[in-house]
Amino acid sequence: MSIDFSNNAPFVEEEPLVSPTLTREDENEYSLRPQRLREYIGQEKAKGNLEIFIQAAKMRSEPLDHVLLHGPPGLGKTTLSCIIANEMGVNVRVTSGPAIEKAGDLAALLTNLNENDILFVDEIHRLNRSVEEVLYPAMEDFAIDIIIGKGPSANSIRLDLPKFTLIGATTRAGQLSAPLRDRFGVTLRLELYTPEELALIVTRSAGILDAPIEPDGAMEIARRSRGTPRIANRMLRRVRDFAQVVGDGVITKALSDKALTALEVDYLGLDNIDRRMLRAIIEYYGGGPVGLETLAATINEESVTLEDVYEPYLLQIGFLTRTPRGRCVTPKAYQHLGIALANGAAGMDQLTF
Ligand code: ADE
Repeated sequence: MSIDFSNNAPFVEEEPLVSPTLTREDENEYSLRPQRLREYIGQEKAKGNLEIFIQAAKMRSEPLDHVLLHGPPGLGKTTLSCIIANEMGVNVRVTSGPAIEKAGDLAALLTNLNENDILFVDEIHRLNRSVEEVLYPAMEDFAIDIIIGKGPSANSIRLDLPKFTLIGATTRAGQLSAPLRDRFGVTLRLELYTPEELALIVTRSAGILDAPIEPDGAMEIARRSRGTPRIANRMLRRVRDFAQVVGDGVITKALSDKALTALEVDYLGLDNIDRRMLRAIIEYYGGGPVGLETLAATINEESVTLEDVYEPYLLQIGFLTRTPRGRCVTPKAYQHLGIALANGAAGMDQLTF
């Protein structure tokens, strides 16, 4: 199997430690990525379904049906696609919605695939409409229509493609157009990982990096990595640096705590932006409800960043609720921040414990 990343989106530079976005320092993340389904920890539901679909496709000697992976960033959508390619014994071409600018770019990618290959399109919700329209017949009939000439003498010819599998990944399934969404035969939702699953991932990664780690040390990193393997692996590398310089090289619970506290990540994995977000809701909007755009303007952050990067974890740990009137902070978050809960604060009637 070969993986071709040449048409992939660029790295994002300068991201906070708890950002799930792929950054330059995650470049060696590839060496930590599992290659086969049996090595992949967590996502049991998605994995179980995939196992069946892969086996069935292989028994029929057909390509796997088109797959849509959705869920928060950093959970392993690219990893899972490369694993699917390994399990199917085919090549994967990795690209992203914003990297495919013109219909011709997509046509070039599609015509260069081999039979049964996988085309992985990250951030597929960001494909532009003219590119998306090329994808419809490609997904449905394994063909593209090429227009030759201009004006009244223009002619359309149909070009057959090799049978292939499209794997689309998105953090925002709701933004996919209905015609595109309907053309995926398999839709899998990836969920945030549990601390126990993350501790297994950290232990596995530490083994690959040859970094001695105690079970409590792995759990401490896991608890602070917001349900996200990419963050867990990034924290592991930073804690390993601390262990080498200020410890005896072994990653213990105390050392992980020291390193991550120094990096301003608290014991639940919240960083400054999470805290600013929660404090702003409490201090300016009486605990909520407040609309996302208003909140983003208040703390001078992008609303998509708050929604895609920060909210999923705050919702999962029960610090935030989403109501039709906006976001509300829960009493649990007040407690975590050490702020007294004011009686009769706006939105309190909607809070869940
Ligand atoms: N590294 C990153 N994600 C992983 C996963 N789900 N299982 C094992 N190792 C990983």
